[in-house]
Amino acid sequence: MMKCIQIDRYGGPEVMVHRELPVPEPAAGEVLVRVCHSGVNFMDVHTRQGKYRDSRTYPVRLPCTLGMEGAGTVQGVGEGVAGFQSGDRVAWCISWGSYAEYAVVPARLLAKVPDALPLEMAAASMFHGCTAHYLVNDVGQLGPGRSCLIHAATGGVGRLMVQMAQRAGARVFATTSSPERAALLREGGVRDVLLYENGRFADAVREATQGAGVDVVFDAIGRDTLRDSFRATRRRGLVVNFGSVSGSLKDLDPIELGEAGSLYLTRPRLADHLQDGSVVQSRADAVFGGLCEGWLQVDIAQRYTLDTVHLGLEALEHRKMVGKPMLSMTPLL
Ligand SMILES: NC(=O)c1ccc[n+]([C@@H]2O[C@H](COP(=O)([O-])OP(=O)(O)OC[C@H]3O[C@@H](n4cnc5c(N)ncnc54)[C@H](OP(=O)(O)O)[C@@H]3O)[C@@H](O)[C@H]2O)c1
Repeated sequence: MMKCIQIDRYGGPEVMVHRELPVPEPAAGEVLVRVCHSGVNFMDVHTRQGKYRDSRTYPVRLPCTLGMEGAGTVQGVGEGVAGFQSGDRVAWCISWGSYAEYAVVPARLLAKVPDALPLEMAAASMFHGCTAHYLVNDVGQLGPGRSCLIHAATGGVGRLMVQMAQRAGARVFATTSSPERAALLREGGVRDVLLYENGRFADAVREATQGAGVDVVFDAIGRDTLRDSFRATRRRGLVVNFGSVSGSLKDLDPIELGEAGSLYLTRPRLADHLQDGSVVQSRADAVFGGLCEGWLQVDIAQRYTLDTVHLGLEALEHRKMVGKPMLSMTPLL
């Protein structure tokens, strides 16, 4: 038997139920993993609230074991799985079930973790790291001579994007919500840090770029910032709306993109950028390599157990936490 946290219906923290269930069997194409650590993410709040109830990209089905990011050791493999065997150290994301002592994960979403990297760091970096990697490299195509604005730069994805964009040689503007968080970013080596200030960040970006705006704006905030993000983007530039922590803009007319300078607007999703096992492993290798080399950093904010993880979700939901909350199963094994 194993302990886990499930939801049978969507709603607030009250819908999370602690259960003891049989250890699952891996079906064809799946791997059974003994979970050591699980990442706690804003996406878990969205999952609990029912944001993915009709999603084709992320088809959550009830009852659902929460948690979509973890790391641990392989315990067994289903029919047709090649490349993984018992004892392998692995990590994954966007497959639900990591708030549990054991999880079955599609083999195509698993990455091997190098011996030099603690499993906790692998679990802390898989989801945000792979997201930052595809956004910076594939969507934004950042490099020397390119410029970008990254909103919510102290958030899990934002913080990694800033580090990767700087490493790629791009000029980076970063926004955050308070002077205290701005100071954290400056301490982390970000030169151009701005506060949102009801959209005045866009004026500051234009001023700093001789009126031109940046090549790419990464906006995970949505309703509160997206229109001002258009103002911060250069003519024919790219706006990447990859999240909506403040809600979605429901009344956007495409003509606005024309008026703002023939902008391109995209709403990408990680699932479409982790399309097969080799892509998963190569993105994970880039992230894990950065952590091992030391130029990439993930700050673990707080560690929880299955009994206390609801506090981590609450802190994320109410914006009380900087750094990554983690759920550790190790003391329970
Ligand atoms: N499309 C994809 O592939 C993809 C993948 C992963 C995540 N996401 C999405 O990206 C977003 C960020 O995810 P995350 O895991 O990085 O979240 P997170 O760690 O909780 O960070 C969110 C940050 O957003 C900022 N923020 C600004 N306005 C906010 C508001 N009204 N409520 C809450 N936070 C607000 C805060 O940073 P500041 O104080 O610095 O502003 C906060 O720390 C989420 O919407 C998530 O679903 C998308």
